[in-house]
Amino acid sequence: MKSLVVYYTRTKITQKVAQEIANKLDCDIEEVVPKVNYNGKLGYARGIKDGASAKIVDLEPLKYDPKDYDIVYLGAPVWASKAANPLISYLKQNEGKFSEVKFFLTAGSSGFESSFSQMEKYSKKPLKTIAITTKQVKHGEYDLTSFLD
Ligand SMILES: Cc1cc2nc3c(=O)[nH]c(=O)nc-3n(C[C@H](O)[C@H](O)[C@H](O)COP(=O)(O)O)c2cc1C
Repeated sequence: MKSLVVYYTRTKITQKVAQEIANKLDCDIEEVVPKVNYNGKLGYARGIKDGASAKIVDLEPLKYDPKDYDIVYLGAPVWASKAANPLISYLKQNEGKFSEVKFFLTAGSSGFESSFSQMEKYSKKPLKTIAITTKQVKHGEYDLTSFLD
């Protein structure tokens, strides 16, 4: 089974989970980098606005084509109860190219379900999902075993 991990991260929390998945599966990994800057205080405010409206933004060139993979693991932080819009932009840009998908999300505490539904709307029904809080990631208090099965 050829797997690809694709993720967006602003403060490296989702990245930690993405890297762990890719290490465990020994597979390719792609970071989605938006051309829009979401760093710092101004970027946070922009993230709230663009996340809530699911704004589609331009992305830096990608290394891998999802249609070359049997399964794509898609990960993002929750922004304003939606999946962060750079990841949604990736899904939109690659519409129709996914064989199977699994979703992973990180968030302070809330907005997981609405974000999973949104990711499904922009891609397809996931085989599995996992929701992990920022605190759980920081303390390593999560288990990917059944998610990866
Ligand atoms: C613009 C913005 C909006 C956010 N909205 C939410 C939210 O609706 N619910 C929540 O629990 N956390 C929210 N968070 C917190 C992030 O989801 C959380 O810190 C996440 O783990 C960060 O992941 P990252 O380091 O991969 O960017 C928000 C963070 C940002 C920057």
